[in-house]
Amino acid sequence: KTLKDLGDLSGKRVLVRADFNVPLKGTTITDDGRIRAALPTINALRGEGAKVILMAHLGRPKGKVVPELSLAPVAKRLGELLGTDVTLASDTYGEDAQAKVAALQDGDVVLLENVRFNPEETSKDAAERSAYAKKIAALGDVFVSDGFGVVHRAQGSNYDVATDLPSAAGLLVEKEVIALSKATDNPERPLTVILGGSKVSDKLGVIENLLSKANRLIIGGGMVYTFLKAKGYEVGESLLEEDQIEKVKSYIETAEKNGVELVLPTDIVVNAGFPAGDTPINPEVVPADAIPADKMGLDIGPDSAKLFHDKVVDSKTVVWNGPMGVFEVPQFAEGTRAIAQALVDATAAGAFTIVGGGDSASAVRNLDFPESGFSHISTGGGASLEFLEGKELPGLKVLE
Ligand code: 3PG
Repeated sequence: KTLKDLGDLSGKRVLVRADFNVPLKGTTITDDGRIRAALPTINALRGEGAKVILMAHLGRPKGKVVPELSLAPVAKRLGELLGTDVTLASDTYGEDAQAKVAALQDGDVVLLENVRFNPEETSKDAAERSAYAKKIAALGDVFVSDGFGVVHRAQGSNYDVATDLPSAAGLLVEKEVIALSKATDNPERPLTVILGGSKVSDKLGVIENLLSKANRLIIGGGMVYTFLKAKGYEVGESLLEEDQIEKVKSYIETAEKNGVELVLPTDIVVNAGFPAGDTPINPEVVPADAIPADKMGLDIGPDSAKLFHDKVVDSKTVVWNGPMGVFEVPQFAEGTRAIAQALVDATAAGAFTIVGGGDSASAVRNLDFPESGFSHISTGGGASLEFLEGKELPGLKVLE
């Protein structure tokens, strides 16, 4: 169900679950992409004269009030983007939330404090979660699920609340589902998937699913060293998940059997140690099969960047999840930059390109690529991966 299924919302109290889980340095938001992605739904509701009650989580406070994880910086940024005051309630469903909701005029916006300050929000006890969700539901007349980044979770404010009130997907969730489905349901081929990020163990499900669906699988980032090791290369001090080597070997065999082209880097940018603290940065490019024993791989090299670029632009559908290296450090950002550029070039050539959420979405914005260069930048990290895995997502299922 989508917004239009909720009928006339003028004067109604609309509870909206958003995903405002943004990266923070102190109280400074370093990437406000998730907040901006929520604006279309908020603006549409305000335009209809609804009273907008926003809920969200920030971090994983584990049911305790952690002042550093207050949504206060989000309320401020959201107010700036909307050009209106966004009041922050000091609790999620208590006296302050009730008073602030009661004071709302049509078109006003209030943000409830971090739902994860309540232990019931993430409780495994369904009865406990449901009793808590009823208290939240009492604040609204209808519920809109617009936090795509949490649809893979069955938690109080995104799942249980939906069973208590007339509910629908917001514009962001609708847009995400339509875009990601272009990669999962009859994609235009060739379909190329680029996976990076630190751990192969985070991506097992998606790799297994794609080994029968993608035409091409490109691997980079910290996870690639487990692939290189599985091929029999030494990886020096690079990140390695020993316990995944056998599994990765079987993926390499399956890819071959299924005719999926598995593309690995041919060269690597290494350093003596991880570039943090006092560790000197002396980047060096080495062949992928000759990483020195005392060096750590931190990015794909220039030949690999060119190879990956050529493969990406030769595709009709492209999905990218996970950076190619330690992109936060400029000397190890070139591989990630090259992939972002490859997607921009593929988009210009008519391909449908998706940037999976989390780090790759932040990388694209932090490296100053315009969002218009991509067909879709997902706001979901885990959620977009699970969507690509073909899993049933509880936060979507509950809206059917
Ligand atoms: C995310 O950042 O991927 C979402 O906000 C979900 O957060 P979580 O993994 O802490 O549930």
